[in-house]
Amino acid sequence: MKTAVITGASRGIGSEFVVRLLDNGWRVYAGYRQDMHRLDLLENENLFTCQLDVTDNVSITAFANTIEHRVDLLINNAGVPDGRWRNIKEIDDEWALDVININAIGPVRLVRSLYDKMGGKSLSTVVMISSLMGSIDDCHSGRSYAYRASKTALNMFTVAMKKEALEDNISFLILHPGWVKTRMGGENAPVEMETSVDGMMELIGKHTLEDSGRFVQYDGVDLPW
Ligand SMILES: NC(=O)c1ccc[n+]([C@@H]2O[C@H](COP(=O)([O-])OP(=O)(O)OC[C@H]3O[C@@H](n4cnc5c(N)ncnc54)[C@H](OP(=O)(O)O)[C@@H]3O)[C@@H](O)[C@H]2O)c1
Repeated sequence: MKTAVITGASRGIGSEFVVRLLDNGWRVYAGYRQDMHRLDLLENENLFTCQLDVTDNVSITAFANTIEHRVDLLINNAGVPDGRWRNIKEIDDEWALDVININAIGPVRLVRSLYDKMGGKSLSTVVMISSLMGSIDDCHSGRSYAYRASKTALNMFTVAMKKEALEDNISFLILHPGWVKTRMGGENAPVEMETSVDGMMELIGKHTLEDSGRFVQYDGVDLPW
């Protein structure tokens, strides 16, 4: 049985990954920040839930210590939007640092903490749930300053870690889930959670070490940096 670890698994895209992986026969370690939300409704002997705040190394270490299996798949999904500030003067620097801490550094902490449980004789895949909003080439409308910067930083952290991890049989996949109907994406988002996660599961299934560092949308379209 393969083992997956998912952050921000209480609701939204993360919770949909939990459901899908359990249905496909995976063992799942699901991290929730405060409330279990949707995780509370799931009954499955292969589901292990644990509190996890990706900004807190104590919480991350306690979470990692509960994982008694080799990790085949780490999905760094936890994330927050920024303040939707309307102009440069409204940017709240403290809040911007929080967004970057959660969205960009959080996934790096998880990779660092689980590194020795991954790779080796068989491939482990680390999925970074990024966003097209992290693409510099695609930044035409501006704004969403901290959110965009956090996802750009996440992409760069990933590409910078990639080479070293190749030698350890750990591959990275940077995914944009689309604009998805969740609390973050809002009611008007055109993509259903199920559609997005279906597409991302297919990409994860096909992913190889040679593809490490690819930046791709849920439907398989490669994205500009
Ligand atoms: N929805 C979209 O359209 C869209 C588009 C592009 C990228 N994404 C990315 O997809 C990922 C999931 O987004 P979503 O739409 O599913 O958002 P969501 O419904 O708001 O869920 C976000 C999840 O992250 C968790 N989280 C927040 N801060 C955390 C922390 N410090 N430590 C651990 N967990 C934390 C939340 O936990 P709580 O329940 O405790 O708050 C929640 O489970 C994010 O990385 C987001 O940037 C989403």
